[in-house]
Amino acid sequence: MIFKNYNNATMKLPHEIEQKMLEILKLPNMSKRNVPSYTNKLSKIRTQMHTLSHDFARLKSTEEKYADAYFAYNFPMNVMKVMTVAKEFQNIYSKLFSHTARLNILDVGCGDGAGMLGLYYRFKDANNISLTGIDASSLMLKRTQELMGWLKSHDPSLDVKLMKRKISPNLFKKTKQQYDIILFANALAEIFSTDKISLTFIEQILKCTTRDGIVIIIEPALKKFSRRLMNLRTEIIKTEKSSILLPCLHEYPCALLNVRKHREWCHQSVPWEPPDFMKIINRGLNREIDHLKFSYLVIAKKNYKKSFCNGFRVISHVLKEKGKKRCFLCNQNRRVELVRLNKSKNTFNTPFDEISKGDIIALKRVIQKKLHYWQIEGNTEVKILTKAKG
Ligand SMILES: C[S@@+](CC[C@H](N)C(=O)[O-])C[C@H]1O[C@@H](n2cnc3c(N)ncnc32)[C@H](O)[C@@H]1O
Repeated sequence: MIFKNYNNATMKLPHEIEQKMLEILKLPNMSKRNVPSYTNKLSKIRTQMHTLSHDFARLKSTEEKYADAYFAYNFPMNVMKVMTVAKEFQNIYSKLFSHTARLNILDVGCGDGAGMLGLYYRFKDANNISLTGIDASSLMLKRTQELMGWLKSHDPSLDVKLMKRKISPNLFKKTKQQYDIILFANALAEIFSTDKISLTFIEQILKCTTRDGIVIIIEPALKKFSRRLMNLRTEIIKTEKSSILLPCLHEYPCALLNVRKHREWCHQSVPWEPPDFMKIINRGLNREIDHLKFSYLVIAKKNYKKSFCNGFRVISHVLKEKGKKRCFLCNQNRRVELVRLNKSKNTFNTPFDEISKGDIIALKRVIQKKLHYWQIEGNTEVKILTKAKG
């Protein structure tokens, strides 16, 4: 295997993927020093990006029509979003798949292959991998084919199967094949425009998972799609036929679903270092490209033991205010405000200054002033168990 181990701490797109993308985009060797030679191509991509996001805002899917812009802008972020979720899964359910010799992965609505590539990168060191991608678009599948061919040329143990299919609500009803991971990365939003994701559909998908298999759903961080996932989660925990493994650390009703008159939505915002070519493309567009924003669920037929218990998920950024810092935690069925007055800062709680949205933290001797208002005081111990960015 020629690929280097992915260095998680930096949250960067693996270098060889960046190079391959530049080759496919016909921007070979582009760097900050030689941008003028690529002016025409870059302005074409930027124009496409404008239209693509305009269409996305109107819930119109045109990634096939503006495939280069989608590939240059969404693809790298989608690879990283999937890698982030998979890393979180590996951190918290470290035993799952550790003895699976060949991991069978299905990427539904695979598009240009970002999701399967992300999962491949996360699991390739521990498992042999079979990737199956389904998409309705020949053009998107053609790009996936090119990427997978490149991957296979470096890893002969990799199996890849791509299928052109239109997903319908009943497609998985009669499927006999079983997979360890079934991924929907930004695909459910397109496949179902309904207000609700059908629980029957999810149950059919779960039947296509192996005994320890999981379903990963990643959606855009928009309120509509995130709240739709939150509602799906509620239905799943109510019926008790399957389990939510992530992002929630508990199986109680969602703490955010009913606060602030339904104006909240649970989503991730994880910092990363975009590759130079994205920064170049972003000149003049000024998009906020340094955070990966998405909502997600990991579902399984049964629940599994987590690598640690008694952790709390940080569900907001840390807000600095006069004389104090605060953030919100998810605790069973309530959202808890965690506050540290500046005068209480000491060596027990310095990790509080390092926490960011999505992290999982442990607290010892926190003062629970009210059910939903906790305070860090002199001897409260704060520990970061996992960082959202890996
Ligand atoms: C937003 S893209 C996501 C692509 C990829 N999963 C990613 O995260 O970058 C959605 C993909 O779903 C595909 N798609 C939409 N509706 C579909 C359907 N009913 N059946 C199969 N594919 C579908 C589109 O062709 C497109 O490639």
